[in-house]
Amino acid sequence: MARSNALEAEDLEQLEQNSGSASAIRETPPGADWNPIEEAFLRRRSVRKYKTRQVPAHLIRRMLEIGRFAPSQGNSQAWKFVVVRDKKLIERMEQYCVDEFKKMSPALDYTLYPQGSLRRWFTRLKARLLNRLDHNMLHPVPMTVLTSIAEGRFAVFHKAPTVILLLVDRRGVGCPEIDIGIVGTNIVMAAQSLGLGTCWIGFSKFLNKNKEMAAQFGAEWPYEISEAITVGYPIGDPAQNHISRQTHEIAWWEDGQKEVFY
Ligand SMILES: Cc1cc2nc3c(=O)[nH]c(=O)nc-3n(C[C@H](O)[C@H](O)[C@H](O)COP(=O)(O)O)c2cc1C
Repeated sequence: MARSNALEAEDLEQLEQNSGSASAIRETPPGADWNPIEEAFLRRRSVRKYKTRQVPAHLIRRMLEIGRFAPSQGNSQAWKFVVVRDKKLIERMEQYCVDEFKKMSPALDYTLYPQGSLRRWFTRLKARLLNRLDHNMLHPVPMTVLTSIAEGRFAVFHKAPTVILLLVDRRGVGCPEIDIGIVGTNIVMAAQSLGLGTCWIGFSKFLNKNKEMAAQFGAEWPYEISEAITVGYPIGDPAQNHISRQTHEIAWWEDGQKEVFY
């Protein structure tokens, strides 16, 4: 097992000294090239194809250390990490989700049934009603992926050699799920800087339903699995995956005036 990457107080002091004068303002002229950190964010993509080679343990520890330094409301740090690198266990996690989705898919995916059939109409109505009850978890987008997973055309954990489960402590201040999002972003970007690929796995929440597995991962009150992140060496160059991004309206208030940008 690799030595802990936990930063000690003297390491932090050293970091502060190395960062030079904190009060100096660094100017970035308009139109300047993206800096390395900005570029890293622009180049990050979800990776769903991994080499079988395992990621060295010390790199995972480095990533978790960057995760630990995420901001959180009230500094409540309402999270816990579980690292799964046991191939058999990842396969069991995958199989549990597949079995669950096999049950859910016929009940929720109306596209499985012929146009104009009563079954299609009824399933669509049911899916719409359920979506009203829970806009987020029962959103149509993940519902369409459910069938692909149930039919073995898409893997939940993408056959990654390492899966990091992000457990949320539901006693956290404010909205601890947001803190989990920030922790995960820290972890994902640290992985990217180390040449690793990652993918967030929202479907991992289904593991909470498996009482035995949840207990094994410590996902019992006040903890539950909020998200997971798969980690591994990417196959191909993830930056080549072009994913569309909308240009949302930006309202800009300055000097008593509102302007709108896109
Ligand atoms: C919270 C969260 C949960 C996600 N869950 C999944 C998932 O279960 N499976 C998956 O393949 N991708 C998942 N994704 C990845 C998104 O599909 C992806 O980020 C989005 O399509 C944009 O693509 P990009 O990450 O390559 O830029 C998730 C992303 C986030 C932020």
